[in-house]
Amino acid sequence: MQEDIHPTEFKVSQAARIQALGQHPRLLWFTGLSGSGKSTLANGVEFALHQQGFHTYLLDGDNIRTGLNKDLTFSDSDRVENIRRIGEVSRLMLDAGLIVLSAFISPFISDRGIIKNLVGPENFLEVFVDCPLEVCEQRDVKGLYQKARKGLIKDFTGIGSPYEAPLNPFMVIKTAEDRLEDSIKNIVQAIQPKINR
Ligand code: ADX
Repeated sequence: MQEDIHPTEFKVSQAARIQALGQHPRLLWFTGLSGSGKSTLANGVEFALHQQGFHTYLLDGDNIRTGLNKDLTFSDSDRVENIRRIGEVSRLMLDAGLIVLSAFISPFISDRGIIKNLVGPENFLEVFVDCPLEVCEQRDVKGLYQKARKGLIKDFTGIGSPYEAPLNPFMVIKTAEDRLEDSIKNIVQAIQPKINR
């Protein structure tokens, strides 16, 4: 029962960890269609931050879905649970003082709103990886759009399942128009004042 659970107060606080790491923990949340470039961008941004001496961790859809969340499907309710767990993991990592980057389709506005409130709105930096469905489909890096069009994947995002774009994101990156290196630089520049102590 929830009422029988009494969380322990730890001696090492988040403030102490922030002090030790010399950075402000934030959650950089990449959202967008499959194949829009979330993982590539998040990877590039993490590498740049790491090189500058920041302490980071990257959570990525395909990786988490083969481990922590391997019991989940792509039904609406399992996608909600997928994002809820990622939110909780992100919260722990923020508590540890890390700069967390997460790359999940996270198709529903309401779920992203829940994460924002969970970690604190000031810590949630939403990056909309904006790429037209036609371009994602043309890239079809994993061959999944073709499978979805053939009816082999019924609930594929953008085809049989909806994607709700952010209404007021921290940043919008147009991966069909802008060069990857420029986008990485722009993101790093924009978050710098938020993560510097
Ligand atoms: S989310 O919708 O629950 O946020 P998540 O980011 O974890 O999705 O996983 C998306 C990845 O799973 C895609 O990039 C793709 O490789 C793979 N995938 C497999 N089936 C589907 C599907 N039905 N819809 C979307 N992505 C799928």
